[in-house]
Amino acid sequence: VQLDQLYRQVIMDHYKNPRNRGEIADGALTVRMNNPTCGDRVQLQMIVKDGKIEEAKFVGEGCSISLASASMMTEVIKGKTVDDALKLSAIFSDMMQGKDYDDETFDLGDLEALQGVSKFPARIKCATLAWKAMEKGLSEEQEE
Ligand code: FES
Ligand code: FES
Repeated sequence: VQLDQLYRQVIMDHYKNPRNRGEIADGALTVRMNNPTCGDRVQLQMIVKDGKIEEAKFVGEGCSISLASASMMTEVIKGKTVDDALKLSAIFSDMMQGKDYDDETFDLGDLEALQGVSKFPARIKCATLAWKAMEKGLSEEQEE
């Protein structure tokens, strides 16, 4: 299917040319998380100011899906409020469960290229790794 091929290209592009890959020197909220199924890891750093995500960067080891998802996630949450980032995470979670997801509230950008992952249960953990890190970091931030 052509759509599948296009999606695969988008995923490979994020894997080979990750957006927002790297580390933030200091003052960032840092979350590390691993995928227990394979041991792959991601570190996500965010600068949150006045309820808004000003910066997001990640580093990690993992498969193409996990790293592409991290790249897309950082791209889409940058500049968003904490609330909106969490809403996006809920939308992505619906997508990963193969449910109808809201594609109108936000511009999902390249994220829709990952919708096919819902058909491969073993890979859902790969795709959601960086998102879980984001949720964990933001929930800690909100408790402060
Ligand atoms: Fe990611 Fe199996 S744990 S593909
Ligand atoms: Fe490890 Fe995908 S196989 S994150």
